[in-house]
Amino acid sequence: MRLHSSTQLKDIRRYYQQQLVSQLGTAVVVLNNRLEIKYLNPSAEAIFNKSLNRLLDKPFVESFIHCSLDVERLEQVVRTGQDFTDADVILEFIDNSRITLEVSASVIMIDGKTRVLLECKQIDKQKQINTEMFQEQQWQAARDLIRGLAHEIKNPLGGLRGAAQLLDRELTPEQREFTSLIIEQADRLTNLVDRLLGPNQLPNVTQMNIHQVLETVYQLKRFDNAKGIKFIRDYDPSIPDIDIDPEKLQQTLLNIIGNAIQVLDENGEITLKTRIATNQTINGEKVKLAIKISVIDNGPGIPPALQDKIFYPMVSGRANGTGLGLSIAQTLVHQHHGKLACHSYPGRTEFSIILPLPKRPN
Ligand SMILES: Nc1ncnc2c1ncn2[C@@H]1O[C@H](COP(=O)(O)OP(=O)(O)OP(=O)(O)O)[C@@H](O)[C@H]1O
Ligand SMILES: [Mg+2]
Repeated sequence: MRLHSSTQLKDIRRYYQQQLVSQLGTAVVVLNNRLEIKYLNPSAEAIFNKSLNRLLDKPFVESFIHCSLDVERLEQVVRTGQDFTDADVILEFIDNSRITLEVSASVIMIDGKTRVLLECKQIDKQKQINTEMFQEQQWQAARDLIRGLAHEIKNPLGGLRGAAQLLDRELTPEQREFTSLIIEQADRLTNLVDRLLGPNQLPNVTQMNIHQVLETVYQLKRFDNAKGIKFIRDYDPSIPDIDIDPEKLQQTLLNIIGNAIQVLDENGEITLKTRIATNQTINGEKVKLAIKISVIDNGPGIPPALQDKIFYPMVSGRANGTGLGLSIAQTLVHQHHGKLACHSYPGRTEFSIILPLPKRPN
């Protein structure tokens, strides 16, 4: 057996270590104990779309428009040396594009100094699609259950109201107080049950420009808010006409904007933005060309615990909310074969309606 000299081995090690770190598919980031960037391998530069030169010495979490990695947990890694992995870290860049990463953080020692090593893997798009499909199924199951229940309540409710009306005629004026209470409450419940049942008419589609609908909504809401919220319109005029039910799209937008107005204060801003989006997945299907209508607000954001559930019927973060606005909006967008998605963090909440564009004839 041939033996190698220790310098030879040292050189081999150094050579491969350098080669490996620079060619590794995993993005590697080294931070100091103040969580400032000290090194990025080329994979990390590619994923973050920024060079080490620009990011050196910058605090990691502040190097992006938004980074969902928990700073406290990173600080804890420095303090305790205990590793952690977060499989759902979202990074948002200046052009508002987003990536999801699985990040493992651990402590390493380099030249006697404590460093934090972040190993980041971009999560496969398929995983995101699976999550979306799962949420979609859950949403449908919840909606069907509630619809079934609402339907069961609706029938006897009509009978109850009718009976109270008949009884009303037989009673003295003092006793009528009770029947009118029954009628009033039955009406209130019917109202709720109708909203629970959701939109039941098929869309009445016409080919038109979505900006017409957006302009109507803008005109309706521009002055109809006591807080003086500023509206910004950022339209892409090249978007072609498509088949839509203008009333349904209008209701969808009003539900979304209504929620934003509720959470905003007098410094609030709502942006209505339209763009062409390419290569989208809508309910598991790949769509090459689509229209993206976004409603973006600068409010407090949706609490993380609510984020996965807001489209479910009867989920509300407001004391007096019925939690139906977004579920109805989702149904209406579905009727247009599109999807309604949300991305939110404090200071920026974006609801986007993605509507597929028909394939161009060849
Ligand atoms: N732009 C937003 N910013 C912050 N939170 C939001 C925003 N939009 C929705 N939410 C949260 O999502 C919840 C669900 O909204 P949804 O419209 O479905 O129901 P609701 O507004 O509570 O009741 P309803 O619309 O039936 O009157 C809201 O209660 C709120 O907590
Ligand atoms: Mg609402």
